Amino acid sequence: MKYSLFISLFAFTVGCEYPVNPPKADYNRVMSALKEAETAAQAQGGDPDLMEGEKLFKSTCTSCHGDDGKAMTAAAAAMNPKPKNLTSADWQTAKTDAEIAKVILEGGASVGLSATMPAWGAIIDETKVVKVVKYIRSLKEK
Ligand code: HEC
Repeated sequence: MKYSLFISLFAFTVGCEYPVNPPKADYNRVMSALKEAETAAQAQGGDPDLMEGEKLFKSTCTSCHGDDGKAMTAAAAAMNPKPKNLTSADWQTAKTDAEIAKVILEGGASVGLSATMPAWGAIIDETKVVKVVKYIRSLKEK
């Protein structure tokens, strides 16, 4: 008796939430929309995450690190220690993505480097930092 009450309550609840069968998602349409977005991004010259990472880097980091990450800027020349050449294969190999993300989010001082490298966590969140790291990785000298 208890169970049948439970079952009919359950059926009632489900019945109220879904008065009609919800329409099945049209995955073909979703997939073709994703494909279209990817093709559009490629037509513009590549990976949208990489493009956003580049935009963030060039708007936030260039004054010290240079557009190309080589730190050949006037500001860099005046610093001690100077920002390193981020394109260097040696530097790129020595650092993991997590280490690069940490120094960006929490600043140089958080990893024992110069506090001249500011913490960017207030304007670059976890999603954006992944894109910035991707851009930095794309700068690695061949
Ligand atoms: C005010 C100048 C300045 C700005 C702006 C700046 N940095 Fe730096 N950055 C530095 C300096 C100086 C260092 C070197 C610190 C050291 O070696 O002690 C550094 C170091 C780094 C490092 C290397 C850490 C390592 O492992 O050697 C990374 C990665 C980095 N910055 C990324 C960024 C990114 C990404 C941005 C933009 C979001 C940015 N920086 C903006 C000055 C700056």
